[in-house]
Amino acid sequence: MKAGFVQFAPEFCNYDRNLVLVEDILDASDQVDLLVLPELANSGYNFASREQAFANAEEVNDSRFIKVLHEYCRRRKSYVASGFNERVGDQLFNSAILVGPDGLIGKYQKIHLFLNEKDIFTPGEAGLPVFATPIGRLGLLVCFDWIFPEVWRILALKGADIICHCSNLVLPGFAQRSVPIHALINHFYVITANRIGSEGSLTFTGMSTIADPRGNVLYQAGPDTMELRFFNFDLEKARNKQMTPRNDLFADRRPEMYQELLKL
Ligand code: ACM
Repeated sequence: MKAGFVQFAPEFCNYDRNLVLVEDILDASDQVDLLVLPELANSGYNFASREQAFANAEEVNDSRFIKVLHEYCRRRKSYVASGFNERVGDQLFNSAILVGPDGLIGKYQKIHLFLNEKDIFTPGEAGLPVFATPIGRLGLLVCFDWIFPEVWRILALKGADIICHCSNLVLPGFAQRSVPIHALINHFYVITANRIGSEGSLTFTGMSTIADPRGNVLYQAGPDTMELRFFNFDLEKARNKQMTPRNDLFADRRPEMYQELLKL
């Protein structure tokens, strides 16, 4: 299967423009089974207030953005994972959505909020789903989740073949360096779709990354170029957790020795 990312700059608080931008980028793409878009791709990121974020959010069951993604996936018989500024009643979540040929498949609400996101979004408490699709088992993470190894491991143990990591990274290359290591130690593919451009004092670092289950960087984008890139993925490489003839990444785990983690 072919999977990759779109690295671009959503326009801050310009929902209509972002719809057209995403639609145009997707329409111009080659045939790809899975594309990952950055965090908050429908709205931009650096909100001055909760009210501003609220005015640029949508509910998943009444979303023009999801309709655009659905239409693309229906026509191409493909899948898109994207960051999504999500409204649920009077709450906001920094979410990632997964859309396929039949519409919205599911969502993940960012667990670990970064900087001023803490003033705006509710931290996700709905867990870490893995979605079984005809193109593979897909897990979703959002940006700053990258620094918490627990979430990657949970998705691995739930059988994820590919992690779609929707991002608006601003720290200097830390996530881009760690993503191949998460891919290696969990033996899955990771697609980090980061954005480019600046909003206020924040400059986004680009360098979207595709890493394979052996920790190889298949591709890393430039720091400030718009790019759509994809590669052939062999999901058998993600499903084979054998390290040596006598070591299996999962079978060799000793969960009884990790209980302390829950108490510290
Ligand atoms: C981030 O979580 N947007 C850095």
